[in-house]
Amino acid sequence: MARIPRDVVEAVRDRTDIVQVVSQHVKLQRRGGSLVGLCPFHQEKSPSFNVVPAKAMYYCFGCQNGGDVFKFLMQINGLSFAEAVKELAGPAGVEIPERELSPEERRQLRARASLYDLMQAAQEFFHSKLLTSAEGQVARDYLQRRAMTQQTIEEHGLGWAPAGWTSLVDHLQNQGYPAGLILQGGLAKQSDRGNGRIYDAFRERVIIPIRDERGRVIAFGGRLLEGDGPKYINSPETPLYNKSKVLYGLEAARKAISRRDRVLLVEGYFDVLSLHQAGFTEAVATCGTSLTDTHVQKLRRLSQNIVVLMDADTAGTRAAARTLPMFVTQGMQAWRLQLPDAKDPDELIREGGPEAMEDALKLKEPLLEWYTTQKLQTYGYSDSGRSRTLDEMVDLLGHLSPAQVSTFAALLRMNEQLILQRVAERRADASSHGEAPPYHDEGPPQAQRWRPERDIVHLLWLVVHRRDQVADLMSLLDPQVLEGHGPILEPMARLLQGESLATVIHETSDVGVNRTLQAIGARTRLYSEDEAAHALGDVLHRICKPLYEGTLQRLQRQSQQLRDRGLQQEMMHTLQAVASLQTRKRTLQDAIRHGRMEDAIPLLAPIVDLPETTDSP
Ligand code: CTP
Ligand code: MN
Repeated sequence: MARIPRDVVEAVRDRTDIVQVVSQHVKLQRRGGSLVGLCPFHQEKSPSFNVVPAKAMYYCFGCQNGGDVFKFLMQINGLSFAEAVKELAGPAGVEIPERELSPEERRQLRARASLYDLMQAAQEFFHSKLLTSAEGQVARDYLQRRAMTQQTIEEHGLGWAPAGWTSLVDHLQNQGYPAGLILQGGLAKQSDRGNGRIYDAFRERVIIPIRDERGRVIAFGGRLLEGDGPKYINSPETPLYNKSKVLYGLEAARKAISRRDRVLLVEGYFDVLSLHQAGFTEAVATCGTSLTDTHVQKLRRLSQNIVVLMDADTAGTRAAARTLPMFVTQGMQAWRLQLPDAKDPDELIREGGPEAMEDALKLKEPLLEWYTTQKLQTYGYSDSGRSRTLDEMVDLLGHLSPAQVSTFAALLRMNEQLILQRVAERRADASSHGEAPPYHDEGPPQAQRWRPERDIVHLLWLVVHRRDQVADLMSLLDPQVLEGHGPILEPMARLLQGESLATVIHETSDVGVNRTLQAIGARTRLYSEDEAAHALGDVLHRICKPLYEGTLQRLQRQSQQLRDRGLQQEMMHTLQAVASLQTRKRTLQDAIRHGRMEDAIPLLAPIVDLPETTDSP
């Protein structure tokens, strides 16, 4: 059966009494805002299993099992998600659609239409234009010239964005999607003429849908057939689409990556499509951006063996080189493969078939060796060239295995002991200057599931349980303050927008974040409504403090150095910066003490920026 629409799932959840369902399996007693009982999922003598009706959630502080009512039924009765939803749909009086909805039913559901539904509707529109419309013939011809089979087109849901200015916009508005949502999804742009009209963002392009890890369409890439204009147009960043997290093809590649224990990292959409079509279903690509640590973390969970297949041109070489530190620090086994005659994988396969790719793969070399050789070729094999190469790579070397260090030493024609000594010196040097070592040396990050600090837990608690009191204040906060807390940002934004905790948990894949959110949901008492705003100020201040204290220290150290070098004027500038930072710090602390949070919270950000902005007199 087709996926159960999200709105239907939410309707069932909203209309089901979790206490009633759980009570059939666990004897519950009321305690404060929640009900407690003996956990059915582990052996225990005193109750640590909580049900929180207000959040429609359960959570066990003993074994950390938790979730919504569906999860409970899945666990206790061994049901699938769909089965659990179906089981509860009847009593909840919600019908699970077994057929296409009528336009009227659609419109009703649309009242709560989500961006996911919107993107799905757009994908279906583009796809049907490609498959059946007369105007789609040019695109069908194009894809045929690129040797894309019907199966690939269907499996990957490729499409065609027709000509005209409002084909998609008209279609979506007829289905009841509001203009604001269409803009928010990045599918349309606002007309410059100030008439409030919107027009299609993608026109006359082959459409490549980009999906998240759960297979939901979240963005599109659009390929020009020929003529003027950028070769690709891509969706902008939206609430669903964050380019530095998403990998094109990952959803389709996930199984093959684990099974074959290998990732092929390529540059383009069509490289992924061709590789998958040729049986290399372990291929993924970034979406026209450079690879990030988050990308690498996602892949690392599936396989630690990655082949970097970026173009052989300067840009591709530079991009490949930039990936090395990420792979090394995350303990991945990375390879570089430059395809013969500087082809991209798509061209290679089109000309030589899967066999050509299979042959080429035999030529891969360890990325570290490739990188070192590149540097040596640039700087030369003279003493100073080799020394410079070592200098630039010394931070990486601390992460290598002894075998890798030996290989490196051989390439560099240097004594291994000498190299290890340099690594040790560099470490000592870095720590005596109070800098964090350039790469953390805490072993592989795999075991480091995200764990919250206390202040972050309190912040999330406030967002979950005191949203009405803190949402407006949170909107005053500069995003930089929370930048270092990546995994919670998206769930937190969704909670602040009013999505239910259960939905957010259900749709967050990070295990650590989920556990934390469940525990937070089950903790009903921390700050009263009256205390909430003040608590928020305190918590944010504590999170921010190390950032501006660090800035202060840096500036003070800098003024010392400038004085030692006799640079009087520069030193005065720096001292002025220190003074103004201290003034801000006092204003901030004052505002917090007097409970003026709307004054305090905006002050948390500029302080972080200060070193750049105070350079001018
Ligand atoms: N890209 C982009 N915008 C462009 C050009 C490229 O976003 N104007 C991104 C796309 O994600 C594209 C990737 O960079 O898939 C690689 O670009 P490139 O090597 O130029 O193109 P190919 O993938 O080889 O494109 P094609 O095979 O369609 O010619
Ligand atoms: Mn190409």
